Order: sequence, then C-alpha cells, then structure tokens
Amino acid sequence: MNSIKRPSALTPSTLLVLGVLALLAGVYFGAPALDSAARAVAFLLVGVMVIILLMREFTERRRMEAAADTAHTLNEELDERVTQRTRQLEAANRKLAAEIADRERATEQLRLLAAHLQSAREEERITIAREIHDEIGTLMTAIKMDLAYLSKEITGGTPKSPETLREEISATTKLVDNAIRTVHQIALELRPAVLDHLGLRSALEWQVREFQARTKIESEFVSTVDHLQLDPERSTAVFRILQEALTNVARHAHATHVEVTLQEQDRQLMLQVHDNGRGISQEQVSGTRQFGLLGMRERAHIFGGDVLVQGAPGQGTTVAVRIPV
Ligand SMILES: Nc1ncnc2c1ncn2[C@@H]1O[C@H](COP(=O)(O)OP(=O)(O)OP(=O)(O)O)[C@@H](O)[C@H]1O
Ligand SMILES: [Mg+2]
Repeated sequence: MNSIKRPSALTPSTLLVLGVLALLAGVYFGAPALDSAARAVAFLLVGVMVIILLMREFTERRRMEAAADTAHTLNEELDERVTQRTRQLEAANRKLAAEIADRERATEQLRLLAAHLQSAREEERITIAREIHDEIGTLMTAIKMDLAYLSKEITGGTPKSPETLREEISATTKLVDNAIRTVHQIALELRPAVLDHLGLRSALEWQVREFQARTKIESEFVSTVDHLQLDPERSTAVFRILQEALTNVARHAHATHVEVTLQEQDRQLMLQVHDNGRGISQEQVSGTRQFGLLGMRERAHIFGGDVLVQGAPGQGTTVAVRIPV
C-alpha cells in the first residue's frame, strides 16, 4: 500500500558535491601555477560550498524521511479505516440477509396459515353438516316416528291408558330437549352467544368454567376489569385466543391448574393464561409446523397487539396477550 519512496543516495546535490570535489582536485593538481594565497581562497570557497551543499542535502533527506514516515502512518491509518469499514459493511450485510430470511420465513408462515385456515374452515363446515345431519336429523326422525305412533294410537287400535300415553309423550319430549340442546351446542361452536349477550369479561369467565367442567383441570379466573367496552372483532379475537390457549393446556401441558387473568392498563387489554404443566420449550414457541400459536399471534397483530409465549421445564407455560382497546 505504501507508495512513497525513500530518497535515493544519488540525488542532484550528491552529484554536485562530487562535481565540486572533482573541480577542487582539478584546481589542486592541475593549477600548480596559481600562487598559494589564491589556492587557499579557492579551497576555502569550495569548502564552504561543500558544507552548505552537504547541510542542504542532510536537511532535504530529513524532510523527505519525515514526509515518508507521515505518509506511511497515514497509509496505515487509512488501511485500518478501510478494514474497519469493510467489517462494518460485512456485518450490516449479514444483518440484512438475516432480516430478509426472517421476512421470507414470516411470509411463508402466513401463506401456510392462510391455507390452513381455509382447510380448517372447510373441515368445520363438514363437521357442522355432519352434526346437523346425524344428531338433529336422527332426533327429528325419531320424534316424527313417535308422533305418528301416538297419533295412530289415539285415533284407532286398542285405546291406551292416559298414564301410558303420558309416558310416551314424556319420552318424545326428551327427544325434543335433546334436539334443542344439540342446536344450542352447534350455535355455540359457531359463535358463543355469551360474547354478544354478556360481554367479553363474562364470556371469558364462562369459557374458563366450561373448560374446568370439561377437562377437570382446576381453573381460576381473576379479573381487575369490571366492564369492558370492546368492539365485536376485538372481543372475538380475545375469546378465540383464550380458547386456543386453553385447548393447548388440555392437549399438551399435563397441568393440574390454570389461572386466567384479565387486566386493563394504559388502554391495553392484557390477558394471561398460566398453567403449571411441563412448560413449552423455546423450539416449540418458534416452531413453524403448527398453527395454534401462529393463529393467536396473527389475531393479536391485526389490532396492533401481540402474544408472548414463555415456558420453563416443569414450571408451566404463560401465554400473555396484549391488545390495544
Ligand atoms: N400450554 C402448553 N404447555 C406445553 N406445551 C405447549 C403448550 N402450548 C403449546 N405447546 C407446545 O407448542 C406446540 C405448538 O402449539 P400450537 O398450538 O401452535 O400447535 P398444536 O396445538 O400442536 O396444533 P394446532 O395447530 O392444532 O393448534 C404444541 O405442539 C406443543 O408441543
Ligand atoms: Mg394448539
């Protein structure tokens, strides 16, 4: 890198000194005719010139060496700066590449989530259609047959005692009750009515109670919020996130206790689901193959919120949801 040259030994001044010495030798040897005074003056003059020239040469040399040293130092500094800058650029480049990869991964996850939601919706329709067909259809057919049988018994054949008729009507009424319950259940799966009738807070509480009744996992609901004014979209999102978090507890946690807390802080709704199970691992938190956690995060993101999932082996899992209200 260093391109500054050190001064060479044969500079013009050196050549001049050599010339003067040659001249002096010429005067000394070639002019014996000159008298001694003239020779002394000539020597003196030439001597002074030689000293001046040597001093100049010496100074010049020092100056050039100093310049060469400065240039060398500057060059080294420049080299260092170029190396540093190259290192910074390489780091920035690596960061950018990682960000691009992250973004591509996120896009791919979203694409997979969209496809998954599409097929989940399709599956849900099939399930609901089957429930309506198998459960309601079967019940209605049974009720119709019962009624036809009753009608036949009343209008013709051997008359039956009012007691027997009442028993038969009561059996049919049970079938009607079953049908009503099934219809409620299906409607609830489609959209929990409590959400519209009671508001989010009570709907969440109801969901936690339902969860405990269904799974027998001791479940607690703690809320510092009395009444929450939230639009239907946000309410549905929070409700579905809780459902998914609780489903995960039942499926994966091996927990014996769940605590759900609801708070409002600085115009942010905070929902936390903590279980005392085996604890989710970091790999599972950032896994890309399942859609439950991904779906939760997406639901929160839509409203500018987020979902934080943390777990420690043997210390359970916490799902913390934050949604601006
Ligand atoms: N409360 C929990 N305790 C322990 N592990 C959990 C908990 N919740 C989730 N996990 C782990 O994290 C993984 C990802 O959860 P996620 O809800 O995304 O997927 P999933 O429940 O397996 O499938 P689905 O897409 O049907 O929800 C689970 O497979 C499970 O291993
Ligand atoms: Mg899940």
